[in-house]
Amino acid sequence: MCSKNLFISLALILVLVPMIVSFPRHHTLTKRSSFFDIECKGVFNKSIFFRLDRICEDCYSLFREPQLHSLCKKRCFTTEYFKGCLDALQLTDEQEIIKTYVKAINGAEPIL
Ligand SMILES: *[C@@H]1O[C@H](CO)[C@@H](O)[C@H](O)[C@H]1NC(C)=O
Repeated sequence: MCSKNLFISLALILVLVPMIVSFPRHHTLTKRSSFFDIECKGVFNKSIFFRLDRICEDCYSLFREPQLHSLCKKRCFTTEYFKGCLDALQLTDEQEIIKTYVKAINGAEPIL
């Protein structure tokens, strides 16, 4: 009885610990790698990256077009889709600051 419980506890620990340990690391890795996946060559700045990523998420929520999220992020937020999202989300007032953000993480002047 006692050894069975011990076995179950051990099994749980063996299953749960790797999950708990790997989850947050995996999460940041995904975010990190998506920075490279979308061909950003500038400086990785978490707050800038998430701000721009958020724009694409909001844009996706607005149109519900599954491809839009990746099109918006494509080439490090420098496509026409990203520009279109800024217009659609009425972020034209913030366009200048957003441009400097894209420039920072893209490593070059965006074609906006
Ligand atoms: C990231 O960018 C923000 C906004 O431009 C800036 O305030 C912050 O200092 C930057 N962080 C790093 C680590 O460069």
